[in-house]
Amino acid sequence: MEDLSPRPGDLEPIETASRDEISALQLTRLKTTLAHAYANSPFYRAKFDAHGVHPDDLKTLADLSKFPFTVKTDLRDTYPFGMFAVPQKDIVRIHASSGTTGKPTVVGYTKKDIDTWAGVVARSIRASGGRPGDIVHVAYGYGLFTGGLGAHYGAEKLGCTVVPISGGMTERQITLIEDFKPRIIMVTPSYMLSILDEFRRAGIDPRETSLAVGIFGAEPWTNAMRQEIEQAFDMHAVDIYGLSEVMGPGVANECVETKDGLHIWEDHFYPEIIDPVTGEVLPDGSEGELVFTSLTKEALPIIRYRTRDLTRLLPGTARSMRRMEKITGRSDDMIILRGVNVFPTQVEEQILKCKGLAPHFQIELTRSGRMDAMTVKVEAALDHTSSEARAHAAKELAHHIKSVIGVSTRIDVGDPGSVERSAGKARRVIDNRPKG
Ligand code: DLL
Repeated sequence: MEDLSPRPGDLEPIETASRDEISALQLTRLKTTLAHAYANSPFYRAKFDAHGVHPDDLKTLADLSKFPFTVKTDLRDTYPFGMFAVPQKDIVRIHASSGTTGKPTVVGYTKKDIDTWAGVVARSIRASGGRPGDIVHVAYGYGLFTGGLGAHYGAEKLGCTVVPISGGMTERQITLIEDFKPRIIMVTPSYMLSILDEFRRAGIDPRETSLAVGIFGAEPWTNAMRQEIEQAFDMHAVDIYGLSEVMGPGVANECVETKDGLHIWEDHFYPEIIDPVTGEVLPDGSEGELVFTSLTKEALPIIRYRTRDLTRLLPGTARSMRRMEKITGRSDDMIILRGVNVFPTQVEEQILKCKGLAPHFQIELTRSGRMDAMTVKVEAALDHTSSEARAHAAKELAHHIKSVIGVSTRIDVGDPGSVERSAGKARRVIDNRPKG
C-alpha cells in the first residue's frame, strides 16, 4: 500500500500546535460556549441554575466537571427544537437520528456550524490520506442521518470530486466504483463487506479497483476487521468517529500513517472520560464513557454530552491532539451473559480468526427459564459450505469465544448471504428475551 504520510505544509497549524496552545484555545472557547448556552438556551440556563453553577465558575478546564451532564433524553424531552440557542431563522440545516424507540433526536446547524463541520471532515479525510482532486465515493446514507451530507460537505471543502451515491443498491455501487474510479470510499464498515461480496459475485478482483483509502465509521469495528478489509481491497482502512448530538462524522479520525486510534479534533470538541456509574472524571488512560463538550457550535451548544461510547483517552502521536482508542462498544450494546460482559466487537474478533467463516454476524439473545442464552449467527465462507466444514467452523468459533471471552454460546453457521444485511449501520444484537 502507498505511503500516505502528510507532506510538509499539508497540515493546519493547530494540528501541530503545542499542548499549551491547544489548552489555551480550549479554555477561551469553553468560556464562550458556556456563556452562549446560558444566555441563549432556556434549557441550559434552567439546568445550570438547578445545579447551582454559572458560566463564571469556570476558571480552568478542570472546572468543567462542576457542570451537569447532558443526555439523550434531554434532546427527546425538548423535541424538536427546544435545545437550540439561536432563533430558528438562523438554522440552515436539521439532522436527526432515528433511534430505536420514541421520538428522533433532532439537531440543528447555523451556516457557521455547517462550515465548521465541513472543516473537521475535510481534516479527517486529509488525515486518512485524501487530497484535493480525489474522487470520493460517499456511500453513507444521505438524509436526516449525518453520515452522507457530513462526508459530502467535508469532501467538497477539501477540494475533492464527490459521488453522492448514498447507501444501498449494491450492484450499482460496484458499477460506479469501476466506472468513476474513486480513490476514496466513505461507508460503514459492515456495508463495505456487502460491497466486497458483490465484487466477488461479479467476478471482479477487489484488489484491482482504484480505491486506495476507505474511511469507515458510524459503528464499532475492530483492528481484525481492518486487516480483513485492507487485504481484500489492497487499500488503507481508516476509522472516523462522530455523533449527531455533537456534530456528525468528523469529531475524531485516525491518521493513516499511524492507525493507532482516533485523534480528537480538540479545537472544536472537548473530551472527558467518566466512570459510567459515578459520573466522576477519570484520568487520561482510564477506560470509561466518553463525554463531549462542543467548543465552537452556535445552534446547539452541547455541554458534557454522555455518548455511552466506551474508550480511553491517549496522548497524541501523529498530531498533538489527544487520541481515543478504537471504540469497544456502547454501554447500551453490552451484553451481560450470566455475569460476563460481552461486546459485539469481541465476537467480531473471534469470527475473523476462523477461516471457514464470512465476517457477517448477528447475536441473538434468548431466555429459557431463568437462563439467558446467546446464539452467534454467522455464515460459512464461500468455499467452506459443506456440512463438515460448517461443523468444524462452529466448533472452532465456540472454542475461541469460550476461551477468550469466557462464555458458552450456540453457533449457527448459515448459508452465505443468510445474515441480515444493512446498507448503513449493522444491527448486531437481537434481543429476543422476554421484556420486563
Ligand atoms: O453515526 C455519525 C457518523 C457518520 C460517524 C458516519 C462516522 C461516520 P449517529 O447516528 O448519531 O452519528 O451515531 C453515533 O455511532 O455514539 C457511536 O456509538 C457510533 N459510532 C460512530 N462512529 C463510530 C466509530 C453517526 N468510528 C454513534 N466507531 C456513536 C465506533 C461509532 N462507533
